[in-house]
Amino acid sequence: MELQIIKTQHPKQKPAAGEPLGFGKYFTDHMFTMRYTAGQGWHDAKIEPYAPVAFDLATTVFHYAQGIFEGLKAFKNEQGEVRVFRPEENFKRMNRSADRMCIPRIDEQFVLNGLFELLKLEKDWIPTAPGTALYIRPSIIATKVALGVHASNEYLFFIILSPVGSYYAHGLAPTRLLVEDYYTRATVGGTGESKCIANYAVSLKAGEEAEKKGFDQVLWLDANEKKYVEEVGSMNMFFVIGGEVVTPALVGSILPGITRKSCIELLQANGYKVSERRVSIDEVIAAQKNGTLDEAFGTGTAAVISPVGMMEYKGQDYVVNGGEMGKITKWLYDTITGIQTGKLPDPHGWVVKL
Ligand code: COI
Repeated sequence: MELQIIKTQHPKQKPAAGEPLGFGKYFTDHMFTMRYTAGQGWHDAKIEPYAPVAFDLATTVFHYAQGIFEGLKAFKNEQGEVRVFRPEENFKRMNRSADRMCIPRIDEQFVLNGLFELLKLEKDWIPTAPGTALYIRPSIIATKVALGVHASNEYLFFIILSPVGSYYAHGLAPTRLLVEDYYTRATVGGTGESKCIANYAVSLKAGEEAEKKGFDQVLWLDANEKKYVEEVGSMNMFFVIGGEVVTPALVGSILPGITRKSCIELLQANGYKVSERRVSIDEVIAAQKNGTLDEAFGTGTAAVISPVGMMEYKGQDYVVNGGEMGKITKWLYDTITGIQTGKLPDPHGWVVKL
């Protein structure tokens, strides 16, 4: 398949240097789009000016949420080199999400090349201030116009780009989590391990209630017993308990995060003991009470490495590490962002340089 490139005649004003970017507020001049039609496969791959797209209101994705997405980041170093962090992992995971949601697979190499062409065109949009990046959002949505509950036979794949700062308005300050013991996010056999759009819709109610009480996010427990820690929706969770770094095992209801995987690999390569296992909220609370909960942090593309300073469970507050960022959390933040931006060597070969 050919990739058509249509350049904009009306480039937008970029955010001024030093302007706080927030998360997902600005979008670049171009987008990558590609259509799927049953019997024909993926076709009409284009890089074109960023613009709204009109849809019939009976389009499948609006009614039955047949849609998936990814999130990854590109950086630019002082020499102007564009660096993309583990992009092949995202398109592999996108195909796993596609299988779960009855969406046709994409050609990973083709969309990777499309992404690289898009990034070359949008190079000047990549912010360089510390803590900033160009966030990349690939998505696939079902575009058949029909109300029957069936997998669509038409799809739109797209990639849009957004210069971003930190995901949390308070930056790297430790987050406050509400351990959710009523609402649930996902069950084993459901879609929790896929990056499907509905997973985020089901989390909104609990998130809003938590925000009203002054929390940043909800820490989800397993839906069956409300006993085991799962994830935070936008982050995977890690705890440092008595010198062991523990992260919930991927039991089927947890997103297999690429930052999560990178942290495990980095920690192991540097001699830390890392366990992927079920971790109950009671174990975490007991560790906090007996002084062995050294650190807690979340990991994600958008959130990077975010320290957790406090958790509330059943009306009780549990402060972690005096509400400060812990040593391992800081080391991981510095190491991952150092590799991404080129300030540190990339011994695992994770960065694709354009
Ligand atoms: C990401 O970290 O890329 C995510 O997709 C999480 C969230 C912003 C939806």
